[in-house]
Amino acid sequence: MKKRVAILISGHGSNMEAIIKNSRNGILKDHCEIVLVLSNRENAEGLQIASSYGIETICIISKGKKREDYDLELVSFLKQYELDYIILAGFMRILSSAFIKTFKNRIINIHPADTDKFKGLGAYEWAFNNRLDSTKITVHFVDNGVDTGKVIGKCNVDLKDAKTLSEVKNRGLKVEHKFYSEMLEKVFNEK
Ligand code: GRF
Repeated sequence: MKKRVAILISGHGSNMEAIIKNSRNGILKDHCEIVLVLSNRENAEGLQIASSYGIETICIISKGKKREDYDLELVSFLKQYELDYIILAGFMRILSSAFIKTFKNRIINIHPADTDKFKGLGAYEWAFNNRLDSTKITVHFVDNGVDTGKVIGKCNVDLKDAKTLSEVKNRGLKVEHKFYSEMLEKVFNEK
């Protein structure tokens, strides 16, 4: 049985698009169906991209709402989809325990650094400012902390001779787009 998946985004959604493509014609083809893309921001470019693939989209605006209230709103909305997994792809919010409890061990995130070395926002900036020769991408389950959940896998990004922050980001995202789906396949295969 294919896993029923919702992807949560806040912005561009390039990871979301890579996952959608892989679920249609790539390594996730037999493993999952993307049933919904949800954004907490109205202007997230990823919403239009998801629609162009014929995927149901919804924007539930988080601005001005208390964290717990918003998360409970999401939980009650998402319940109708009978989801197996929630995939975070640039969803710029920390989820509260009410949300995490509901989807325990079924929420997955991608973090653009080694979570043992750098947690939170600005990971590519950190790699660039420290002139790192390489960094890592981490795919992990989400728990109550920020980037502290059980690691599914880490992948190296070569940053040698990367001269600008945008080059660092581009190299990292290229790895993210492939690696996220590979790690999702691993999880979906095991369950
Ligand atoms: C990625 O770098 C991801 O690792 C981080 O947020 C960024 C989202 O980019 N969590 P996109 O929206 O998938 O293009």
